[in-house]
Amino acid sequence: MSIAITGGSGFIGSHIAEKLAEKGHSISIIDVKRPHKAGFDYVKADIIEKQSMMKALEGAEYIYHLAAVSNVDEAKKDPVGCYNTNVLGTLNVLEAARKNDAKRVIFASTVWVYSTSEEEKVDETTHIDISKSRHIYTSSKIAAEFAIQSYKKLYGLDFTILRYGIPYGPRARPETVIPIFVRNALEGKKITIFGDGKSYRNFIYVGDLAEGNVLAMKKSAENKIFNLDGSEVVTIKGVLDSASKISGKKLVVEHAEARDEEYKGRHVSIRRAEEELGWKPKTSFEEGMKRYVGWARENMD
Ligand SMILES: NC(=O)c1ccc[n+]([C@@H]2O[C@H](COP(=O)([O-])OP(=O)(O)OC[C@H]3O[C@@H](n4cnc5c(N)ncnc54)[C@H](O)[C@@H]3O)[C@@H](O)[C@H]2O)c1
Repeated sequence: MSIAITGGSGFIGSHIAEKLAEKGHSISIIDVKRPHKAGFDYVKADIIEKQSMMKALEGAEYIYHLAAVSNVDEAKKDPVGCYNTNVLGTLNVLEAARKNDAKRVIFASTVWVYSTSEEEKVDETTHIDISKSRHIYTSSKIAAEFAIQSYKKLYGLDFTILRYGIPYGPRARPETVIPIFVRNALEGKKITIFGDGKSYRNFIYVGDLAEGNVLAMKKSAENKIFNLDGSEVVTIKGVLDSASKISGKKLVVEHAEARDEEYKGRHVSIRRAEEELGWKPKTSFEEGMKRYVGWARENMD
């Protein structure tokens, strides 16, 4: 199958590219940055340029669309830039997919969309109340999901929306919680916890997340939304303890006020992905952290 991955040079996209290549697919990475290693077809293109997307996505049967402003602090600092990339950029990808008769667009969304819900337990049918949308990053992902639904209804473009949990693993973005904790632990620096440390995540090992992306090519995933989240609940304090244990360093911790618009954590059901894709995260948090800390030791500058 001929597959294009926008954002394929990034953290998650690079793992998806590797897994799809292992299965024998022909991969083309569309990104403003070069891929993390040689061996992939690479098109340097910006998703906010419509003509570049038309050309870059020519001939792609499946399009994994991951390119985005993924750093939530950057999104907050530059909301227009965030919407340009995450919403307008998505429209350019959808338009190119439609004009080039792609079979499907598989979109990287986020469980942060559930921060619009008051429910503690959420699944893909949970109502998204846009009046409760807080972070500009979250609202940009919801807007992109809306556009995808419209493209299906208006033009018949097939999609799969994947709402990712918070991934970690080799090549994780340095500004996210696990890399910060691990780096500071290894360097003996102070760690700041926002709030009381009791807020939780179901961190997902990036290899498991990539596997879920590969399974999303199944016909049964067409025009559906799936949560791909971890199955183990880990508090921020739990991450800290794990970083300390695996690195063998005692950590220095300071507390700061919770950031209001942050995703607080929910019980995100992954039952649909289990039943319909045959997907389940395989890597325990402890095992994933060991792999990540091992990678970080070798790759930190
Ligand atoms: N990492 C997370 O915590 C997380 C959680 C849920 C969803 N997501 C989503 O998954 C996707 C991938 O996230 P990631 O963590 O791998 O991010 P990343 O920043 O590592 O990767 C994004 C890639 O997109 C590329 N890119 C950005 N703007 C571009 C543009 N205008 N044109 C072309 N390429 C561009 C970047 O160069 C980068 O290689 C994003 O859509 C993100 O919103 C991430």
